[in-house]
Amino acid sequence: MAMIDKKHQSFLSKTLEQAIILPVLVIERVEDAIPLAEALLAGGCNSVEVTLRSDAALAAMEKIAINLPELTLGAGTLLECEQFQQVKDAGASYALSPGATKKLAQAAIDADFAYVPAAATPSEILELRELGYKIQKLFPAGASGGIEMLKSLSSPIADVRFCPTGGVSTENVQDYLKQPNVICVGGSWLAPKNLITEKNWAAITQIAQKSMTTVR
Ligand code: 3PG
Repeated sequence: MAMIDKKHQSFLSKTLEQAIILPVLVIERVEDAIPLAEALLAGGCNSVEVTLRSDAALAAMEKIAINLPELTLGAGTLLECEQFQQVKDAGASYALSPGATKKLAQAAIDADFAYVPAAATPSEILELRELGYKIQKLFPAGASGGIEMLKSLSSPIADVRFCPTGGVSTENVQDYLKQPNVICVGGSWLAPKNLITEKNWAAITQIAQKSMTTVR
């Protein structure tokens, strides 16, 4: 079986280390894509995860990729193999999933695309590790054991680093980031649905700024 290309792992390592916090975005209206991304950039974020959870997602990615090249664009919620090519064509630089299957892990390799698959158990982590995936999402982080889970994994599976997502918040983000096997965290708290609906970009910048200041 093919292995992931090392160039993708080093790209992800650099991107996620620099991101520290990866905002998880659900963009329902294409017109919100740029002001939302700009608001997060202004708050100190340098990468975002635009999820494929809305009809507007691919068009939103295109807008961000063309207009804000300084933001490293991740595409999230990939559930189908053909979506790797779709998000690549939309201008995303990497993809993430809430889980992983052998088919998805292989499809990313076939598409020659940087990919952060997710795992929630030691056996799932090891399956992905065998394909060369040394950076994984821990999802759902809180529900699958959170910080205690990361502590338990750090000694037996010492060479896999995680982006815990799901249940990360302003209350626990610092504790997550203190774990040596955490490369960054993901979360939706930086872009709450109500603020996007209200187009309250200033409030989103404020949340991002506060969160980034706390963790830096
Ligand atoms: C995700 O989409 O990756 C998670 O649902 C984000 O989880 P959160 O809403 O708990 O941050």
